[in-house]
Amino acid sequence: MKILVTGGAGYIASHTNVELLNAGYEVVVIDNLINSDKESIRRVEKLTGKKITFYEADICNKEALEAVFEKETIDAVIHFAGLKAVGESCQIPLTYFDNNLCGTIYLLEMMKKYDVKTLVFSSSATVYGLPESVPITEDFPLSVSNPYGRTKLMIEDMLRDIYQADNGWDIAILRYFNPIGAHESGEIGEAPNGIPNNLLPYVAKVAAGELDYVRVFGDDYDTPDGTGVRDYIHVVDLALGHIKSLEKLKQHPGLVTYNLGTGVGYSVLDIIHNFEKACHKTIPYQIVERRPGDIDICYADAKKAKEELGWEATRSIDVMCEDAWRWQSKNPKGYAK
Ligand code: NAD
Ligand code: UD1
Repeated sequence: MKILVTGGAGYIASHTNVELLNAGYEVVVIDNLINSDKESIRRVEKLTGKKITFYEADICNKEALEAVFEKETIDAVIHFAGLKAVGESCQIPLTYFDNNLCGTIYLLEMMKKYDVKTLVFSSSATVYGLPESVPITEDFPLSVSNPYGRTKLMIEDMLRDIYQADNGWDIAILRYFNPIGAHESGEIGEAPNGIPNNLLPYVAKVAAGELDYVRVFGDDYDTPDGTGVRDYIHVVDLALGHIKSLEKLKQHPGLVTYNLGTGVGYSVLDIIHNFEKACHKTIPYQIVERRPGDIDICYADAKKAKEELGWEATRSIDVMCEDAWRWQSKNPKGYAK
C-alpha cells in the first residue's frame, strides 16, 4: 500500500515514516521544507533500510501536487503539512489560513480527482479550547482562541462536511495532545528553528547549556504545584497511532475521531525534574508571568482510541525525556551539518 505523507520531512511525520516503512507500507513524501530538513528523510531511510520517494514541493502549488498524484498510485494520505506556531499565527493569520486551509483544499480536490478517499488528518487538542473539565473526551464542545487552532477546527469541519456529502470517504481525525521525545536511536527528533516556543525543546536547550534557564509561565494555576498541566505523549507512540488508524479505516470504513494522548497530566515542574533525571544535570528555572492564552490543565481521555483502535501510549515520561535528551545531545544543531 502506497501512502502519501504531506509534510513528511517534519517532526511527527518522520517518526511516522519509520513505523510505516517498518510495517511494510511504501512512503511518498511531499514537503516544501519550510520547517524541516531533507536530512530527516535520509535518516529515516538509514534507520529502516528502505527508500522514500521525496518530492520537494508546496501543497499549495496545484500543478506540483497534481504531478505527484499523476506519477504515483496513491492508496491513502496522511496529512501533516501545515504551519503550527500559535504565537506566529496571531501575527500572520492570513499566511496560516492560506497555507493550512488552501493547501488542504487543494489536497482534497486532488484526492477526489484521483479517487484516493482515505485520509488521516493531524488535528490537535487545541480544538477543545478551554475545556470545562478533564479528562477530555472526543465529544467535548469544540472552540478555538487563535488562528492556528481555527485552521485545525475549520479543516475538521470541512472533513465532516465532505464525508456527509459522500460517505465513500474514509477519514480519521487525530487530535494530538503534546508530542515530545524522539526515536530511541537519537537519529530523528524535533528540530525547531530558532528559540523554541514549546516546553520540551526549550528545557532540552537549557540542559545543553544553549539557553540560561527555563521560564516557567505561572505558578498560580489551579493545579497541584501551580504550574500548567499537559498530556505529554511520546512521538513514537503517536506515530503508531497513525498505523492503527490506517488499519481501522481499511477494516471499518467511515469517519472517526480520536484523542491521541496518554490520559495522564504532568506539570511544568514535573517535566523539568524528569528531564533532570534523564540528563543528570540541574536545570535552572524561574517563575515568570503566565503566557497569554495558556490554560491551566489539559489531558485526554484516551479510552476511545484504546477500545476502537487497539492503540494506547506505552512509553513513560522517563523514556520521553531520555529519548529527547539523546536526540539533543547527538544533534545539538538539529539536522544542520
Ligand atoms: P513540523 O513543522 O515538524 O511538520 C510540518 C511539515 O509540513 C514540515 O516539514 C513543513 O516543512 C511542512 N509544510 C508546511 N507547509 C507546507 C506546505 N504548504 N507544503 C508542503 N509542506 C509543508 O510539525 P509537526 O510537529 O511534525 O506537526 C505535524 C502536524 O501535526 C501539523 O499539522 C501540526 O499542526 C500538527 N500538530 C502538531 C502538534 C505538535 O505539538 N507538534 C500538536 C498537534 C497537532
Ligand atoms: C502548544 C500550543 C498548542 C499545540 C501544542 C502542541 C500554545 C498556546 N498552544 O500547547 O496549540 O497543540 O503546543 O505542540 O502555544 N511552558 C513554560 N515555559 C516555556 C514553554 C511552555 O512554562 O518556555 C509551559 C506552558 O505554559 C504550558 C506547558 O509548558 O503549561 C506546555 O507548553 P507548550 O509546550 O508550549 O504546549 P501547549 O501550550 O500545551
